[in-house]
Amino acid sequence: MNEALARLLLAWYDANGRSLPWRGAGDAYCVWVSEVMLQQTRAEAVKAYYERFLAALPTVQALADVDEDKLFKLWEGLGYYSRARNLRRAARMVTDAYGGVIPAAPEDLLRLPGVGLYTAGAVASIAYNVCIPAVDGNALRVCKRLEADCADITLEQTKKATAARLLAVMPQDRPGAFNQAMMDLGAMICLPGGAARCGECPLAQGCAALAQGTVAELPVKSAARPRKLEGRVVLRLECEDRVALRKRPGKGLLAGLWEFPNAIAVAGEEPPWLPLLTSLGAAREQVAVAAFMGEAKHIFTHIEWHMQGWRLELARIIENPALVWATRRELQATYALPSALSAFL
Ligand code: ADE
Repeated sequence: MNEALARLLLAWYDANGRSLPWRGAGDAYCVWVSEVMLQQTRAEAVKAYYERFLAALPTVQALADVDEDKLFKLWEGLGYYSRARNLRRAARMVTDAYGGVIPAAPEDLLRLPGVGLYTAGAVASIAYNVCIPAVDGNALRVCKRLEADCADITLEQTKKATAARLLAVMPQDRPGAFNQAMMDLGAMICLPGGAARCGECPLAQGCAALAQGTVAELPVKSAARPRKLEGRVVLRLECEDRVALRKRPGKGLLAGLWEFPNAIAVAGEEPPWLPLLTSLGAAREQVAVAAFMGEAKHIFTHIEWHMQGWRLELARIIENPALVWATRRELQATYALPSALSAFL
């Protein structure tokens, strides 16, 4: 990237950039919420969540005060729920330490839970015009291709070096627009692998990878550690018109969310649901109907759940303080279940 290409990119962005609901909001709170949602979720998918979240929690104070179940309900389906928990923690810090105003300095933003280098750069540049790059996967792909650079983009040093180069050439008058132009070019034109649309790229004339024919091979990314596979039994326990939910522990995977009781499948058990049912304090005789609901897979960052779901109709409710028996309405309106379990909803 150089200054001339940066100007070409901005001109392309002004004519072709995506129209997204958080753009032009101008309010740092809106920018921050959108950037946290966008950390692991595509812009198209974020749109509806963003609008609903801001309608329900329009200010930092409202976010700081919201109760956890309501917060998770607003986040339901977005995944990576620690983002929601961190947002609320950060909102409390902003109300306590910064008088309710999201700070503009990247070093202050970095102190907020859930804000890393990328998000600090995005918020500071977009909301406050601070001249700092926001280096996400899109920016890395664009930059490595422009320079036909084979550095491994999963390395911190590659991200730092890319940020330094971008900082040197980004237009000082429009840092937020420049960062978002990089994101849009990466999302619309400079697509991963062989999907790149180089014929439409405003930077094609300056792209070393295009000249060398290595666009599809760049950027270089070292392979991630293989995920652990876990077979799990999921129980949809029903009694009259209620279904049993339990709250996950406050730490770890899907912390604090509600779930259908589930456990690691015990090999060779028949029926497969019996050990879990017993551990919940029920007897096999309580089961009036047992129906297999099918299999579902969910991929987390470090683990894959391979689930088999069973719907068990019970003759009477299991008296277990860890279970709540939710009505269909409550299941919809009150309790946030992770999308990992949505196949059994
Ligand atoms: N991805 C992350 N932040 C974004 C933004 N502000 N616009 C579009 N895509 C994004």
